[in-house]
Amino acid sequence: MTQDELKTLVGQAALQYIQAGSIVGVGTGSTVNKFIDALATIKDKIAGAVSSSVASTERLQALGIKVFEAGEVDELAVYVDGADEIDNAGNMIKGGGAALTREKIVAAQSLQFICIADDSKLVQMLGHFPVPVEVVPMAARRITRQFEALGGSAVLRLKNGLPLVTDNGQHILDVSGLSIADPLAFESQVNQWPGVVTVGVFAFQKASICLLGTADGVKTLNF
Ligand code: A5P
Repeated sequence: MTQDELKTLVGQAALQYIQAGSIVGVGTGSTVNKFIDALATIKDKIAGAVSSSVASTERLQALGIKVFEAGEVDELAVYVDGADEIDNAGNMIKGGGAALTREKIVAAQSLQFICIADDSKLVQMLGHFPVPVEVVPMAARRITRQFEALGGSAVLRLKNGLPLVTDNGQHILDVSGLSIADPLAFESQVNQWPGVVTVGVFAFQKASICLLGTADGVKTLNF
């Protein structure tokens, strides 16, 4: 099976967690796009979605799914999103698509985080994939030095030769060279640095369940 087919498989498998009449938390990325396509097949059975990015909002609306603002809704039963890496405890690196801040906000509003991923994303220890960190631009240089002090190397993410600007008007640093043995401690530490908007380690908002696409079908990991 191709990676694309695995993404379709887990996107469809996530439908089993969607309750009739509910508002669904929706993440961002190529795997979530498959979930949005699957969600459109049951759009008459749900009330709508809270989206984590402009890109997902546009896809949801194009398929006829009503999108609510996060602030219009209290608790969500389920948030469905992909990951760049996930470990055996459900901790994740996210933000490869630059949507990490809104992803963490919608995840925090949700009772269950259903991670959908192909099996290339499962790792023993987080940190091989560069950690995305959304930062206020004026703090980027100092934060870069703070990561260097931890043994990491931070690079400003570019788009068309210019700094990428997130949906929140901020920049992204991609930090490589880190071995994240304690994701919760790492997230806590970096969260405290002035100018950090969001660190792309999801340990406080870790996955409750991971639907992992493998050559043998969908494996369900419970955390
Ligand atoms: C978006 O900002 C990310 O957190 C994505 O969820 C993550 O990068 C996974 O994306 P893919 O499903 O495209 O691999």
